[in-house]
Amino acid sequence: MSVELQLDAQVKADREGRPTLKIVAHRGYSGKYPELSPLAFEKALELPIHGIECDVRMTRDGKVVVNHDATLDRTSNRNGKVSALDWAEIKLADIGSDKHPKQYPMLLDELLEMWEPSGQHIYIETKHPGAGGDILEEQVVLRLRYAGLADDPRIHIISFAHRAIRRMKSLAPDLDRIYLRRDWQRHLKKAELLLSEPTGLGMSLLRGKLQPDAIGAHGLPTYMWTIDKTEDMKWAWANGVDILATNQPEVALHAIQM
Ligand code: G3P
Ligand code: CA
Repeated sequence: MSVELQLDAQVKADREGRPTLKIVAHRGYSGKYPELSPLAFEKALELPIHGIECDVRMTRDGKVVVNHDATLDRTSNRNGKVSALDWAEIKLADIGSDKHPKQYPMLLDELLEMWEPSGQHIYIETKHPGAGGDILEEQVVLRLRYAGLADDPRIHIISFAHRAIRRMKSLAPDLDRIYLRRDWQRHLKKAELLLSEPTGLGMSLLRGKLQPDAIGAHGLPTYMWTIDKTEDMKWAWANGVDILATNQPEVALHAIQM
């Protein structure tokens, strides 16, 4: 879809009094390209969408690497725990697919460099528990400071761990912070949800369908993942979701034209 078409969709939505739905490419354009690979991010950054999402962990030698799982086993041709390997070993793991081979993990630094000129937003999920513990947030903030981005409104830190959100508040108070609730967390009280003073709240599509009245609760924007079907995208938009994370960003661009 062209930028013009996307803008038309936004104008139409505004005219109808509906807020614009922000589309985020989950793990890059992972529905079409290997998840969290340079190619998946490159393709997502070419689209007229709001942003990209990534997961970060720490290597044995203290580097912040973009990886979802605690190990390399599922997504690469190597095995082993991210926290037990040095970056020099991890960077050799091929995370490509048969169709898109020879893709390699990225450091957060490298992803930020690729992302920064795009004009999109980035949602960085700090993964816990991890061997680095609290050091992960410190290292993420250091990398952001190094890149001059520690107070950039296009950066959003997301996490399932209240402790991580709390630490981000003290380390980089100007950054947006989204607390993600687990699917098994049912009717959380206000104090439980806002424990770490997040600036946004996230939930899965499953939780959202079970508890639609939690969308937009406490006056905070709602981030919802992972929505890949057109009918669910339309449902999320109609029910007030603000930020939609999807593996299929082009499907989302078409869905919100209606
Ligand atoms: O964007 C939030 C979502 O990614 C959380 O779940 O397991 O895909 O990281 P997961
Ligand atoms: Ca994630």
